Amino acid sequence: MTDKIDIEEYLKTNFIGKNIEYFHSIPSTNIKAKEIAYSKEEGTIVIAEEQTQGKGRIGRNWASPKGKGIWVSIILKPNMNPDKVPKMTLIGAAAISKALKNMGIKSYIKWPNDIIIGGKKVCGILTEMNYKRDMISYVIMGIGMNVNLDEDDFNDELKDKATSLKITTGTEIDRSKLLASILNYFENLYIPFEEKDDLSETIKISREQSILINREVRIIKGNEEKTGKVLDIDNEGKLVIRYEDDKIEKVFSGEISIRGIKGYV
Ligand code: BTN
Repeated sequence: MTDKIDIEEYLKTNFIGKNIEYFHSIPSTNIKAKEIAYSKEEGTIVIAEEQTQGKGRIGRNWASPKGKGIWVSIILKPNMNPDKVPKMTLIGAAAISKALKNMGIKSYIKWPNDIIIGGKKVCGILTEMNYKRDMISYVIMGIGMNVNLDEDDFNDELKDKATSLKITTGTEIDRSKLLASILNYFENLYIPFEEKDDLSETIKISREQSILINREVRIIKGNEEKTGKVLDIDNEGKLVIRYEDDKIEKVFSGEISIRGIKGYV
């Protein structure tokens, strides 16, 4: 299914995805979204069929072959302090997980920005922002979802760690329906957060779908690496970890890996 992504008939939102900037091939939808963020309304999305320099987190590349994935960036302009932005990634993860569930696909959220199926990564989120004097100018939420990629689309390094919906379900998935569904759920979770700082539904979904809660993990923060057990995701969206010395810490961000499990997670 390499048809062009066309979400209009499935979209039920008020502003998310109402304005679409569509490209066949660009370096990165996040880069493009940053270029146009000031001149476009909130909720504008940038879609590309192919990215030639897709960006992953911590400077990694994101493989984005033509017509096979959802490579999208959402332009957001919440009127809030920049320190709230890390929570927004969790809204994206919760919306994606809900949309997959609605299609009968069970997925897990690896707090705060990855979606996992069968122990492998199927989707990642890269949230970037720009702010001035304690006010957000814009937030770009980039979502990369491996939808109809085949085994051959992953290089040797990625094969153990990444998968696609097509590989895990055995069928091609309609990218337009899935993207519209993600955006529909996203708006429903984003509005209460933007208007009332209410993250309750997002947290509920993040807990229910979490792959980390009750697992022994390794957390890397800067140069430091520690091991502990994940107890919960708190009401602020922080990960609650009990370290081996019994100290409990709530972390806002960090690279987490599950101990004793090979491959990606
Ligand atoms: C990660 O490392 O897990 C985050 C991956 C984010 C990839 C998406 S694809 C659409 C958007 N544009 C980019 O260049 N990156 C994000």
